[in-house]
Amino acid sequence: MTGTGRSVVAAQARAIADAWSPPGAPESWWLTAATLTAIAEEDPLLDLASAIPPDRLPPLLLAAAVRFLASGSDLARHYPQPGGPQPPRDPAFGAELATFARERHAELAALCAGHRYQMNEVGRSADVLPVLALIGAADDRPLALVDLGTGAGLGLRLDRYHYTYRAADGSRRSTGDPAAAVRIECAVRSGAPPVPARIPTVVDRVGVDVEPLDLSDPHVLAWLAACVPPEAGAVTRFAAASALARAEPARSARGNLLDVLPDVIATLPAEALVCLVDTYVHVFLPPPDLERFDGLITEIGRERDLEWVSVDPLVPLGPDARATVQGLDVPAAWVRENRDGGVSGVIGRVGVRNGVRSGTVLGRAHPGAAWLEWR
Ligand SMILES: C[S@@+](CC[C@H](N)C(=O)[O-])C[C@H]1O[C@@H](n2cnc3c(N)ncnc32)[C@H](O)[C@@H]1O
Repeated sequence: MTGTGRSVVAAQARAIADAWSPPGAPESWWLTAATLTAIAEEDPLLDLASAIPPDRLPPLLLAAAVRFLASGSDLARHYPQPGGPQPPRDPAFGAELATFARERHAELAALCAGHRYQMNEVGRSADVLPVLALIGAADDRPLALVDLGTGAGLGLRLDRYHYTYRAADGSRRSTGDPAAAVRIECAVRSGAPPVPARIPTVVDRVGVDVEPLDLSDPHVLAWLAACVPPEAGAVTRFAAASALARAEPARSARGNLLDVLPDVIATLPAEALVCLVDTYVHVFLPPPDLERFDGLITEIGRERDLEWVSVDPLVPLGPDARATVQGLDVPAAWVRENRDGGVSGVIGRVGVRNGVRSGTVLGRAHPGAAWLEWR
């Protein structure tokens, strides 16, 4: 496959910068926005990104390659380290990045050719948790978690993390293990997401991915760390969650989720409520696969109660997006804001009880867990 048009790459890079770092975003997102803006505007970066085939997410893949190669160079001073602060904004960063890309062109091109962009945002567990609270409040059964498109499996241990939800009036609600190494903070911009006093019990957990990632391989780990947006909170969360995942590996099934799901569900304890979680996975499924998944949920739901929690941008990805991956209606303002570049993850829940299906849109959230809105 050949590369992507320069104007297309530039537009993609700007759209991603807007999604992660819209006006009013926390200052700590400046480096993420500055990197993507430089990819949109600086020729040495645009040359590299536009040589990448469109299905390989050119701006994000190049941003990861830059981060990977920056270690050990002067550029590294701009990037946050796990547990450390966000280095201050530097207006000269874009120009410096362009020089770096010119000087290291061949190495960057080779990194992009040999790797896939692979996002693992454990902070999205803060979007899923209030949905589990709702499920747990109405159903006594323990949960059997199936994380669809699990990547490195960081969403599989969401019952082991500590969460703090900060309201606009400054009040805070926390839950989870107070001593947890993985600490997720999220601003609540509107509404009141249910924060459970006790996280529902998870009796079994399994991750599904076409390409599960092996965190015990140091190169894989270093590449995944480079794919994390260079924001202090995200970098720290990833380091802590990947350490926990390495220490306590969970079960995983390799394959297309559409093919392996029935067999995976058959392995789960009969007394548990099946809870499928998908964060930023269904948004990438082609429409026929979305339809097939929908049918699969109905089919499996005839045999067994289940929940499907989704956190995904509207589809089809891009300015024409208007539907949720679960086929639920969203407010017209969300469609408008999505078209204007404010892509966020819609939090939705589809439940099946005794073969009867219901669905609710519950909120929406920043792609990197900086904020959420609850309806
Ligand atoms: C954008 S990543 C999201 C990872 C993680 N859920 C998160 O939110 O950070 C999408 C993941 O879904 C996986 N994936 C995409 N299509 C899939 C499919 N049809 N079956 C199984 N996994 C799939 C990819 O390999 C990748 O790990």
